[in-house]
Amino acid sequence: MHTTISRNNGDLFMEKVALSDIANQFGTPCYVYSRTALKLNFEAYTSALGNHPHLICYAVKSNSNIAVLQTLSALGAGFDIVSVGELERVLIAGGDPSKIVFSGLGKTSSEMRRALEVGIHCFNVESESELVLLNETASALSLKAPVSIRVNPDVNANTHPYISTGLKEDKFGIDINHAMTVYQNASLMNNIDVIGIDCHIGSQLTDVRPFVDAMNRLLILVDQLAELKINLNHIDIGGGLGVRYRDESIQSVDDYMRELLPLLAHRSETLVLEPGRSITANAGAMLTQVQFIKSNEHKNFAIVDAAMNDMLRPSLYQAWMDIQSISHSMGVDEKVYDVVGPVCESGDFLGKDRKLSVKEGDHLCLFSAGSYGFVMSSNYNSRPRAPEIMVDGDNVFLIRQRETIQDLTRGEQLLPVNSSSNC
Ligand code: LLP
Repeated sequence: MHTTISRNNGDLFMEKVALSDIANQFGTPCYVYSRTALKLNFEAYTSALGNHPHLICYAVKSNSNIAVLQTLSALGAGFDIVSVGELERVLIAGGDPSKIVFSGLGKTSSEMRRALEVGIHCFNVESESELVLLNETASALSLKAPVSIRVNPDVNANTHPYISTGLKEDKFGIDINHAMTVYQNASLMNNIDVIGIDCHIGSQLTDVRPFVDAMNRLLILVDQLAELKINLNHIDIGGGLGVRYRDESIQSVDDYMRELLPLLAHRSETLVLEPGRSITANAGAMLTQVQFIKSNEHKNFAIVDAAMNDMLRPSLYQAWMDIQSISHSMGVDEKVYDVVGPVCESGDFLGKDRKLSVKEGDHLCLFSAGSYGFVMSSNYNSRPRAPEIMVDGDNVFLIRQRETIQDLTRGEQLLPVNSSSNC
């Protein structure tokens, strides 16, 4: 997984741009992405897949900025979406609808209708009720909905419980032992076109073994379906390959495909993948500034201007993300800090027990923040959301403005004067 952040004479650079210049120009907190890293991370998939028929559907949820989508679309990416909002973003970015797969377990009829109208590649269906609604929606448009059934292969992805999705107790997919019946029902529906099979077993997998286990289980079902004359064109193994946040040893995309592709040799099905994190995480960083330093008997706190509303991962998953000074501070003692935000919750931290040489006013870089960073940010505590910046060589582009105070109250309405009732 490529990152393009390096240290030169004590200063952090992304590609050819000093991160301190970005922090000074755009203010903090801000997100910054490397266009080169995005491209390299995507191309790691295309080159590892070689001649095997494939469709790489980038998981939009990991980073949905339209400039990110545009960069990937230009490289031929398809997209994995989970809402009509993500669909519209892909279309605005110039994405090809015929390369879109629509995941998610609660699609509404109006979302289905829009996706049918623009002609997406496939709906990844997660329940029998969804199948019925999709059939009705497609019928009303006199269209056929292309469908994969998302099966739950019951494999243990060995990842954080909040981001594991392929176990029997998870809410996702259809039990693999029941999938055959669902396929048979689907194949009898007039406005459903059964074209594939899908699974997604979890996120931040460090080891490729669970993917291989899942694929083996899917292939057994695919062959059983073929015996019933239900022939599938593609197999979607989902996303989930992990990245290095700290010192995890992560299997590469090459390792992954080296294990997976032999299972598909001599088979004609297209392999569909839905990678998110492995494309965007290490292509991005979040920059923040130390506002105050405060110490008590037990702890030193670096109070920074980014908070859990800007980056939720440490608070929500106890995720460890690297924090470093953007520029070395001369003559400042190294101490152990909790790096915390200004939000009124004890759970508001970016990192605990970090060795840093910092003083008030210094800029810090939170690494690997390109995935599940800005997209999970909120306005909690009425904090405007951070801007997003794209670096490309020595060029810098503002790809999303910092929100303003006006943005915070957009759409809100005061009550009419004298409107209070006595009840
Ligand atoms: N496909 C489906 C159906 C998914 O649910 C996901 C992620 C992906 C693909 C992409 O997985 P990736 O390649 O990014 O691992 N917010 C959490 C991660 C949630 C992942 C949800 N599903 C985090 O910050 O760690």
